[in-house]
Amino acid sequence: DKSLKGRDFLTISDFTAEEIRLLIDAAHDLKRDLKEGIPHTILQGKSLGMIFTKPSTRTRVSFEVGMYQLGGYALFLSSQDIQLRRGESLPDTARTLERYLDGIMIRTFDQEDVDELAQYASIPVINGLTDIVHPTQVVADLMTVEEHQGKLAGLKLAYIGDGNNVAHSLLQICARMGVHMTIACPQGYEPDASVLQSARNDAAKSGVQLEVVDDPVEAVKDADAVYTDIWASMGQEKEQEKRAQVFQHYQVNTELLKGANEDVIVLHCLPAHRGEEITDQVIDGPHSVVFDEAENRLHAHKAIMALLIG
Ligand code: CP
Ligand code: NVA
Repeated sequence: DKSLKGRDFLTISDFTAEEIRLLIDAAHDLKRDLKEGIPHTILQGKSLGMIFTKPSTRTRVSFEVGMYQLGGYALFLSSQDIQLRRGESLPDTARTLERYLDGIMIRTFDQEDVDELAQYASIPVINGLTDIVHPTQVVADLMTVEEHQGKLAGLKLAYIGDGNNVAHSLLQICARMGVHMTIACPQGYEPDASVLQSARNDAAKSGVQLEVVDDPVEAVKDADAVYTDIWASMGQEKEQEKRAQVFQHYQVNTELLKGANEDVIVLHCLPAHRGEEITDQVIDGPHSVVFDEAENRLHAHKAIMALLIG
């Protein structure tokens, strides 16, 4: 059965390569259909609740508009405005929301909270980012790489910067989808050891190489895609100045890109701190695909909702 109906989308490691392929293919199809004006009503009568305890531009707007484009309805639920703020438990929130909704998307700090919500909600729960992973992002990311490079298997992605939530989900999806990945990060900012180990177990099966180095120049050598993210993630605002120091040699700039393949593409999940992890010249330059990537969040999220909820 090729259906993902009823599944949660909590982390990439819950999905096989075949299932991720289904999602990416559906995303490409939905993008093409949208451009050609072919409408879809696969989520007609369905509602998605979107709980946010952290800010969002792309995730919020793309899920909401995506739901609308598929004939459904999305509600923005700031965690400040629902009873969660006054201490209503996640299980009771789940038991209540499942009576009204067909799916829940949640962005928050602790992965355990997302897992708990999913455990108590009988409807699909989609992880819109936690401190540890950002799984919806990387579906759009590999869709974007495939769109621009024509394939995934055998490519090399270099990730420069913090071994954070985005890096973790990239490790998990690259290991499954046949993309070699090298992370360059300062000592002490490596990806989580258990995430790396389990991605390496997958990589061994798929023949993918996953490396963690400290030299960005070494990482970008022969890269088909270079990826970066902000140095201080949401919740790390107090570390901003310290991190600006620690990461100063991890900027994606024109000089660094010279060491990558000639047709390298540059990705960034956004929002960017221009002049820190990426220069204006690169993000606005000919190798950058960051706004295609941002657009593809819409198509990828529609695919996720269509397959899980539709
Ligand atoms: N990339 C991403 O998740 O963006 P937002 O924080 O704006 O949703
Ligand atoms: N690593 C960033 C990603 C933002 C989309 C953060 O967690 O803030």
